[in-house]
Amino acid sequence: MKNMKPRKMIRDKFNWWEVVAGDVPRDKDGTALGREIKYLRADPDKNKHVPYTVEVADGYESRCGKHELHMVTEEHFIAYIELIIDDRWHHRFYFKAGDEPKVHFQVPKGKKVIARALCNFDSLWEYELPVK
Ligand SMILES: [Fe+2]
Repeated sequence: MKNMKPRKMIRDKFNWWEVVAGDVPRDKDGTALGREIKYLRADPDKNKHVPYTVEVADGYESRCGKHELHMVTEEHFIAYIELIIDDRWHHRFYFKAGDEPKVHFQVPKGKKVIARALCNFDSLWEYELPVK
């Protein structure tokens, strides 16, 4: 176990489906497996984890990788993309291996729209749409 890389250890020991910001991944005995998880922000032009999102006629379209899509394989994947609209509506779409990490949310629009994505290796990412 000591020879395992930390990220692989976290992936194998922690239920990524339930990760939220503020969590510290822990083993069954309570030992921390990594640092506190925070939502990361980056330039969507340069980082394909950022769930780049645009408004469309009937809702929003989000994709991990504005230009080139992030992989979705059994080993390394975008687990989901979610939208939080006006701090009230929460929509989440889960990906399966082989999917492209992009989704069309056919939902009512809001004023404040935040997209979040979870990569099993590279943690949580966030993108906020510019306010109109
Ligand atoms: Fe990743």
